[in-house]
Amino acid sequence: MDVLIVGSGGREHAIATAVKKSPRVDKIYCAPGNGGISGIAECVDITAMEFDKLADFAEEKKIGLTIIGMDDPLVGGVVDVFEKRGLRVFGPRKNAAIIEGSKAFSKDLMKKYNIPTAAYENFNDADKAMAYLETQKMPIVVKASGLALGKGVLICQTLEEAKDAVKSIMTDKQFGDAGNEIVIEEFLTGREVSVLCYCDGTHIKPMTSAQDHKRAKDGDQGLNTGGMGTFSPSPFYNDEVKHFCEEKVYQPTMDAMKAEGRDFIGILFVGLILTPDGPKVLEYNARFGDPEAQVVLPRMKNDIIDVMEACIDGKLDTIDLQFEDNAAVCVVLASDGYPEHYEKGKEIRGLDAFEGKDDYFVFHAGTKKDGDRIVTNGGRVLGVTALGATLKEARANAYKATEWIDFDNKYMRNDIGKALDDVAL
Ligand code: AMP
Ligand code: GLY
Repeated sequence: MDVLIVGSGGREHAIATAVKKSPRVDKIYCAPGNGGISGIAECVDITAMEFDKLADFAEEKKIGLTIIGMDDPLVGGVVDVFEKRGLRVFGPRKNAAIIEGSKAFSKDLMKKYNIPTAAYENFNDADKAMAYLETQKMPIVVKASGLALGKGVLICQTLEEAKDAVKSIMTDKQFGDAGNEIVIEEFLTGREVSVLCYCDGTHIKPMTSAQDHKRAKDGDQGLNTGGMGTFSPSPFYNDEVKHFCEEKVYQPTMDAMKAEGRDFIGILFVGLILTPDGPKVLEYNARFGDPEAQVVLPRMKNDIIDVMEACIDGKLDTIDLQFEDNAAVCVVLASDGYPEHYEKGKEIRGLDAFEGKDDYFVFHAGTKKDGDRIVTNGGRVLGVTALGATLKEARANAYKATEWIDFDNKYMRNDIGKALDDVAL
């Protein structure tokens, strides 16, 4: 069959790479794609929010499966548009993608169904939010409820900072309409773990765990970004934590969504924090993480098309999901200045070094083709992933591979996975 992937980041490159491994797939298209994806898929000049054009394309090319990588089109209802036209598509419908699109919705869902999460209140009135803050302990967390490119969460140390956060989100509309409603939440401490799960509306199968590094600078300093690097598996996600989450988080979330008439089909990304009182859900996303996909998918043994089709057909229980008994580390190469101001259009050299190496991957994010050259075209430029027998080995391999690549203003964190030195590996 032919497959269409919707999105343009490193995550979509990782999805395309997994799809390419399937013997069931003839041709891959990606809309809109990027400079690296064009090496394995035909990039199509349609943006992720042009739902009718995407569906027209899928119909015209007789696409066997469309995979939606990004959050915006999912939350906007692209899956509903495809389904209405009888097209096969992988991802949650609009009424289920709300689990990511509205943090207020997801908090209320967790409360109603006793899924462990931080104590909170939702507000759509800034004065009431301010009054509530007066009664709370600091630090505290203020979140824009809607989609804000992963940047709508403000951790506030003092009452003054918290009030400023409410003002900038609700009154000054720092994140636009995403801040019409906010969640004010108890501050939690602990290791963070991401677990991405395949879901068919009834059954849920968690993949191997991963951890992201969201801050721009070493030592978790600097601004929040879309993610500067990941590793998988997380040694902190031990059997005890896993069993707890299977019993108290994953299946209860599936059951809760079904009970609400919002069957969740697609990838449920569960962001967990391992607190002294046990694991709690920080957030849900309705798609693969970026750059979590870049460490999880290279470790998956199954044919991704079989798994995605089983999700669409409600037969996920027939799939034995398997991962390699190894580790992966992804280091993001960014343009210096990201996530604020940075330059584009710099030639990227050294990409050939990855060719023919099964344990090394260079996933493109902000790149584009410029004649015969590939040039930088965004803040996060590339994700360099390496496999290894252990996390330590994967990390050494990934950092070695970052040296193969060269472009002006190349920036990366030097401590992806470094916290692992604290634990026995
Ligand atoms: P979210 O998008 O809700 O996952 O939040 C982004 C990041 O903010 C998380 O990965 C955490 O690092 C941090 N965060 C969110 N909620 C809390 C909380 N209640 N306590 C401490 N940190 C939080
Ligand atoms: N890396 C975090 C995310 O994709 O939301």
